[in-house]
Amino acid sequence: MAIEDLGEFVEKLEKVGELRRIKTQVDANLEIAEILRRTMYSNGPALYFENVKNYDMPVLGNAFGSLKRLEIGLETDDFAQIGQRIVDMTKMEIPTGIFEKIKKLPELSKMTDIAPKLQKSGPVTEIFEDSPSFDKIPILKTWHKDAERFITFGLIATKHPDTDVRNLGVYRMQILDSTHALMHWQKHKRGAHHYDIKKDAGNKIEVAVIIGADPATVFSAVAPVPEGLDKYLFAGITRKTGIKTVKCKTVDLEVPANAELVLEGYVDPSDIRMEGPFGDHTGYYTPPEPYPVFTLTGIMRRQKPIYLTTVVGKPILEDAFIGKVIERSFLPLIKMFQPEVVDFSMPAAGWFQGMAIISIKKRYPGQAKKVMMGLWGLGQLALTKIFVVVDEDVNVHDMNDVIWAITTRSDAARDVIIINNTPTDTLDPASPLVNLGSKLGIDATQKTKEEGYQREIQELVLVDEDTKNIVDAKWSSYGI
Ligand SMILES: Cc1cc2nc3c(=O)[nH]c(=O)nc-3n(C[C@H](O)[C@H](O)[C@H](O)COP(=O)(O)O)c2cc1C
Repeated sequence: MAIEDLGEFVEKLEKVGELRRIKTQVDANLEIAEILRRTMYSNGPALYFENVKNYDMPVLGNAFGSLKRLEIGLETDDFAQIGQRIVDMTKMEIPTGIFEKIKKLPELSKMTDIAPKLQKSGPVTEIFEDSPSFDKIPILKTWHKDAERFITFGLIATKHPDTDVRNLGVYRMQILDSTHALMHWQKHKRGAHHYDIKKDAGNKIEVAVIIGADPATVFSAVAPVPEGLDKYLFAGITRKTGIKTVKCKTVDLEVPANAELVLEGYVDPSDIRMEGPFGDHTGYYTPPEPYPVFTLTGIMRRQKPIYLTTVVGKPILEDAFIGKVIERSFLPLIKMFQPEVVDFSMPAAGWFQGMAIISIKKRYPGQAKKVMMGLWGLGQLALTKIFVVVDEDVNVHDMNDVIWAITTRSDAARDVIIINNTPTDTLDPASPLVNLGSKLGIDATQKTKEEGYQREIQELVLVDEDTKNIVDAKWSSYGI
């Protein structure tokens, strides 16, 4: 049975010692964030703050801050299965005739099982506030030089203005006053795309900010799913059961029925203000940049909601673990587009968009560069600054192995490519302009004669079978 809501996730984490309740009074202003960071840096548990100064609402943080917690939340220890299910769906033949349909019934019913289901009401419709305010929500200030308090784990729901395909993205929001906040959807993200379409037509865009939901729905908001895939459907694919939705009261959007809180409103393209600074997941304060204003029009909530939050800073913090699961779950999709890819890794220290290492089964000259170019054209991988491509015998998760490959199989002049004036992650502190900079590709695969390598390829030093067998047989006698 898929986890139904955040409360059930909390119970499950607590049962296996992955969550600690904090009863001491704590302050949403800086104190909670520092506790969460220290706990994450020492691989500690999720924290549930029951007594937050000046607020009635408990705060949950670091809930996804270990692979074990993510395995519990997403109910699998094989995250690749998530992406594999999407790949399998693309291979599914849709039957036309009645007999064909009957034959395919089991497969088709799986599709309807994972589709979102609209309900009249749900836990989140228990209370509706028509004079809404951010003031009763324990929104954290996380770093002392942050411009304000920020909602950091809101799932921002919008729909594509032309196709109605629903999106969820985690975009931080800087509180301005009781009913206004800045929406930090970066230019390349789907929420910003929906907004741009509305802006071009001279309209505001309706938005719902979902705070707290079942783990699969939270994960789907962070996941860079293929264009056109409805994120509510993706949540159903992830948890193998469709999520339940309800309609918002003041905007024409559907939201998960099991949410803790939903902040309804709109973003107005004619009201742009400076957002930031904000202590970011690069480890630096992102300086102020212009972003549009969200206006709160209503709040739907449970009687006793939990405020889900997260804290970012220099890696490795909670988002690193979510990123690891994205890396694992999207590998099957990467392989669908680039079949020679064997494995893929985005080291957490490179804050994900910074660097990726890809191993391939190379068959022809120049193939490593072909893979780089393919991946730089694939969704959010377009924002990755550095790609290193290695052969399949190199372990992409072992930086020693990767450095060995770079230093023994690549020559700087022959194997490095730099492409200027490309899209970069908005948060990249080093790019010459916000959103524009260069890419570095390192082909660290073994070069062949066809690739201009005229020397003999040197043989790898590997132990011979006889010596290996002798040492294996006598190993315990050495007393090592
Ligand atoms: C904790 C956390 C905070 C994030 N904050 C932002 C943000 O403020 N702005 C943004 O554009 N992306 C942010 N992201 C990344 C997006 O949520 C992510 O790229 C997602 O795939 C966007 O989805 P979309 O392209 O489908 O809209 C954040 C991710 C995490 C895990």
